[in-house]
Amino acid sequence: MTPQYVLQAEDVAIHYGGVKALDGVAITLERGQIRGLIGPNGAGKSTVIDAITGRTRLTRGKVVLDGEDVSHLGAVERRRRGLSRSFQRTSIFGGMTVLKQVELASYKMGVVDPGADAKAVLEELNLDNLTHVHAEDLGYGEQRRLDLALALVGRPKLLMLDEPMAGLSVKESLDLAQHLKALTSRWDVSVLLVEHDMDVVFGISNVVTVFELGRVIADGDPASVRANPRVREAYLGSAA
Ligand SMILES: Nc1ncnc2c1ncn2[C@@H]1O[C@H](COP(=O)(O)OP(=O)(O)OP(=O)(O)O)[C@@H](O)[C@H]1O
Ligand SMILES: [Mg+2]
Repeated sequence: MTPQYVLQAEDVAIHYGGVKALDGVAITLERGQIRGLIGPNGAGKSTVIDAITGRTRLTRGKVVLDGEDVSHLGAVERRRRGLSRSFQRTSIFGGMTVLKQVELASYKMGVVDPGADAKAVLEELNLDNLTHVHAEDLGYGEQRRLDLALALVGRPKLLMLDEPMAGLSVKESLDLAQHLKALTSRWDVSVLLVEHDMDVVFGISNVVTVFELGRVIADGDPASVRANPRVREAYLGSAA
């Protein structure tokens, strides 16, 4: 039986002493779906990625991946089960070639044929013409795509991306957005996309969640979320 959801995070709470960074949020992802996650600074967007991927211990709640409760597994175990992420700060090594880095990441993941895996990932992201370039010689937009490549080794089912478009030009952002869209259909990847660029979020997401102060204040299709009065209030004067 195939479960309806690739990801179900239920009643997730992360408290730091008295600070309720997250206080009972629910997030689901269906296969091949892109869910945009927006909210003001400090709303808990990065924290929920940490919680789902196992970087931060849950105060309360559970995380179910493909029908399996992974709440008590560490980040490495969850990654091996197909739950991947990218970080805001790149994890690239400047002195290594693009190909070597992706192969190394694949090898570390325990992939049977890291060479073939790396090649497939680089082709998918149109980085195959840059395989022998050192990462430090890449343009910033290409570095962000290399970040995505590193997150894609081992063919994850789920990708949690924390502001992958930050610092990119409009053209580079659209380019990255198209790659994400293609990945969902060609590789069956589901994406949780935390992003400040509203045009990108509302443009490519199938569903959108809005956080405010560690809680979900809206969840639904892009048009209804955009029209939601509470969302408009939270974003008073901004692009929503
Ligand atoms: N290690 C920590 N200890 C204490 N408080 C923390 C810790 N990490 C995060 N917080 C708090 O949790 C809340 C949510 O932070 P988080 O970084 O998830 O917000 P965000 O939505 O990602 O914001 P931004 O848009 O600025 O990236 C904030 O109030 C933050 O100060
Ligand atoms: Mg953040």
